[in-house]
Amino acid sequence: MPTQYTIGGRGAASIAASVELGIRRGRLPAGARLPPVRRLARDLRVSPGTVASAYRVLRDRGLIHTRIGSGTTISARPPLAAAATHHVPAGVRDLSNGNPDPSLLPPLAESLGLLDTRHHLYDEPASLAGLLDVARRDFRGEGVPAESLTVVSGALDGVERVLQAHLRLGDRVAVEDPAYASVLDLLAALGLSPVPVGVDDLGALPGDLHAALREGAAAVLLTPRSQNPFGAAFDEGRARELRSVLRRHPEALLIEDDHAGPVSGVEHVPLVTRERARWAVVRSVAKSLGPDLRVALLAGDATTVDRVAGRRLLGQGWVSRLLQQVVLALWSDPGIGRLLETAGRTYAHRRRSLLDALSRRGVVAHGRSGMNVWIPVPEEAGVMRALLNGGWAVRAGEHFRLRSPPAIRVTISGLLPEEAERFADALAGALRPRDRGRPA
Ligand SMILES: Cc1ncc(COP(=O)(O)O)c(C=O)c1O
Repeated sequence: MPTQYTIGGRGAASIAASVELGIRRGRLPAGARLPPVRRLARDLRVSPGTVASAYRVLRDRGLIHTRIGSGTTISARPPLAAAATHHVPAGVRDLSNGNPDPSLLPPLAESLGLLDTRHHLYDEPASLAGLLDVARRDFRGEGVPAESLTVVSGALDGVERVLQAHLRLGDRVAVEDPAYASVLDLLAALGLSPVPVGVDDLGALPGDLHAALREGAAAVLLTPRSQNPFGAAFDEGRARELRSVLRRHPEALLIEDDHAGPVSGVEHVPLVTRERARWAVVRSVAKSLGPDLRVALLAGDATTVDRVAGRRLLGQGWVSRLLQQVVLALWSDPGIGRLLETAGRTYAHRRRSLLDALSRRGVVAHGRSGMNVWIPVPEEAGVMRALLNGGWAVRAGEHFRLRSPPAIRVTISGLLPEEAERFADALAGALRPRDRGRPA
């Protein structure tokens, strides 16, 4: 799609700034084609080298892509503004946001009352020893060889830090397709290219992972359970197959994103084995204890953990020890343990209610674990519009997809069983009978 936006500037920096402004103002949308270097150089009366250097800067920042044969285009996910916060009209039931149900999160007041309010200084250890001990015990119980650990600010922060510890601009990363939209945005922002790995209910497909690694993926980023948006989770059989693929690529960095942890509704089946050289498993408390805590535990090989912790010291330093204390206090409270079990069971029941309601209407959907259900549809925009007219907001699959077919994502965390029936009626009405049950 050629663009009408006029790019200005005399030097590389100002030309790059002009393109950036066009993107920010929505005048250069994703996929818009930029003029070839020589033509823009002629129009701006600058040398081709100046334009080439502006395009290089934009490419390195993940704002544009150049492909032989199709020219230079604006990236699908230019890392500029925060992901557009979408507006859900008043009176519409919001099943689009991926949030946990606040009523299933633990009350914080009591744990806050237990905090040691002594001031901690710069030179104290970055991570609370007690927190690392609990995490180490849990990880080891699941088979994760967690000798080295650190605390990070959420799963995505951990993923970003591990990628930056090992990868370079332009490296390829094998990711699930569909994948968590923010992971795709993050890769674009880091100048890394995603290599899609298809997903079924048991998670990443071993054949696709093998192909991605053969294509040269330097890292593999997978979700062991609560896969977002598909709701997949590994079982032992799938994990064995994936481990066998990974064994043939010992040099690849392996990152496992256990973002929902104990409320996933299934056990954690990790992929990492003792002989893996470079790896990390990151477990966030965002879905179980609350997104605002922004704390995750990161286990990994000693080099990876040291690089992450060492690099963090230069900037953020550490995750506030007050936050770490809150997590430790919550983890140490047996009442909270019971509450998390209830939350996991409640999410599973809500997921099952929707899947059953859809199945009774002949609609195929996926959701073995976690807070989301993925429903293949023939075309996203029309179905979303019909649902919105019926009072339901869901998330378009396009945010999560690389080359997998259209679908919608429904967040079930707060969806009561009686609502699931009404939602299923609305969706079945929006799909023509022959469009239901299309395979993912
Ligand atoms: C797969 C996946 N990873 C990471 C996150 C974000 O986790 P955190 O808030 O701990 O960064 C999410 C949030 O939904 C997610 O779905």
